Amino acid sequence: MKKIFVEQIIDKINQVVELFGWVHSKRDHKKIVFIDLRDRTGIVQVVGNESFKSLNLEDVVYVKGKVKKRPKKFVNPKMKTGEIEIEAEDIKILSKAKSLPLPVDTSGYEINEEVRLKYRYLDLRRERMKNNLILRHRFIKEIRNFMDEQDFVEIETPILTKATPEGARDFIVPSRLQPGKFYALPQSPQQYKQLLMVAGIEKYYQIARCFRDEDPRADRSYGEFTQLDVEKSFTSQEEILSLIEKLLKNVIEKIFPEKKIWKVPFPKITYKEAMKKYKTDRPDLREKKDINILAFCWVVDFPCFEWKETEKRWDAMHHPFTSPKKEDLSLLNEGKYEEVRADQYDLVLNGFEVGGGSIRIIDPNLQKKIFEIMGHTQKQVEEKFGHLLEAFSYGVPPHGGVALGLDRLLQVILNEPSVRETIAFPASSGGKTAVMEAPSEVSEEQLKEVGIKIR
Ligand code: AMO
Repeated sequence: MKKIFVEQIIDKINQVVELFGWVHSKRDHKKIVFIDLRDRTGIVQVVGNESFKSLNLEDVVYVKGKVKKRPKKFVNPKMKTGEIEIEAEDIKILSKAKSLPLPVDTSGYEINEEVRLKYRYLDLRRERMKNNLILRHRFIKEIRNFMDEQDFVEIETPILTKATPEGARDFIVPSRLQPGKFYALPQSPQQYKQLLMVAGIEKYYQIARCFRDEDPRADRSYGEFTQLDVEKSFTSQEEILSLIEKLLKNVIEKIFPEKKIWKVPFPKITYKEAMKKYKTDRPDLREKKDINILAFCWVVDFPCFEWKETEKRWDAMHHPFTSPKKEDLSLLNEGKYEEVRADQYDLVLNGFEVGGGSIRIIDPNLQKKIFEIMGHTQKQVEEKFGHLLEAFSYGVPPHGGVALGLDRLLQVILNEPSVRETIAFPASSGGKTAVMEAPSEVSEEQLKEVGIKIR
């Protein structure tokens, strides 16, 4: 006799087993009481006596009993364990449950999202959410295996750092040791991964958390999200695109065998073509919207700059470290900024932007010029990016990279309506964190320590 999971009992007919789990449902037939016992791996019917009457839904229990084949007429073909049941010899309640504030035996789509996030630890009991978390784990594990086989090194980069511009607002953290000064949480590891290229790492990747203060949408989580972040030295656009294609083909075949990738190599279209033909830079190339078709494509040759009318200045379309295309450098020198194309590529899946990257600038003078076009003064450039420009003066390999938005990629693969369905504890659309409901006030002492007074 030993403790086992529900999924392991199917072939244990006539053996006595010990199970631990939750009371998923209960059916009272006077002298006989049935419960469905749920653990991480599945659900099984347990047959008990009157002592089962006191059980509440979602109580945590220990059950010891014999695995029995069900009489033919009671077989339930809808359940994986529908041909068997457990004849209970002993049951112990390990923890009582109050009645839950939300059902956990439905898909959950019908429940108000604020309620689901407030009680996320209960919401995650539902089968769909539990499966999403397990698939996410397996997906990321395969990504790590693949990157390791390709000889990439996973390196962690700081969370308390300096602002790195990716086009969103920064989250800032006050310093206690230097009152009046602030860290910023990274919008991505962009500058660190470039510094790792200067360091000679050559092939870097990271499952990286990124922090951006921007308005949430169905495909955009508030506050933080996760990237597969990649950078490589002595590379080219072709090499980065083919690496990512190989990775996705490999990992999706293993973890989502029911999915069909529409075309490999992924079709490549220019930004100009996409805007002309599809009126968007994230075209959905599927002919019909079959849920198992994954239509990846690359969109390339984005404009380097976009005009920000409110701020009356040029901004980088991707980020300021993106190299203009070599053949467009003369346009840059002539000041025809709107015509300069970037060596940038976006990965699009079924109409969603699931990744983006570029070949980087390595010439400090060109980098300075780009910052100046964006409206930074020389002094600001020195303050904000002096470290990178200096690093580039000590021998920098040509390099480029890409980042995939893993939450969003999983959202599209899993056909989920929102990116939050793939994240264990996402913030709500109002920016409140799940369960703990941060942000919250802090004590006077804490504020004093960091030299802050609330206005
Ligand atoms: P970018 O800003 O394009 O590039 O981000 C890469 C990918 O991350 C995903 N993403 C998000 N996913 C969920 N919630 C969000 N709020 C969110 N914001 C972005 C998208 C996007 O395509 N450092 C560069 C990469 C590089 O140049 O190598 C970067 O971060 O799927």
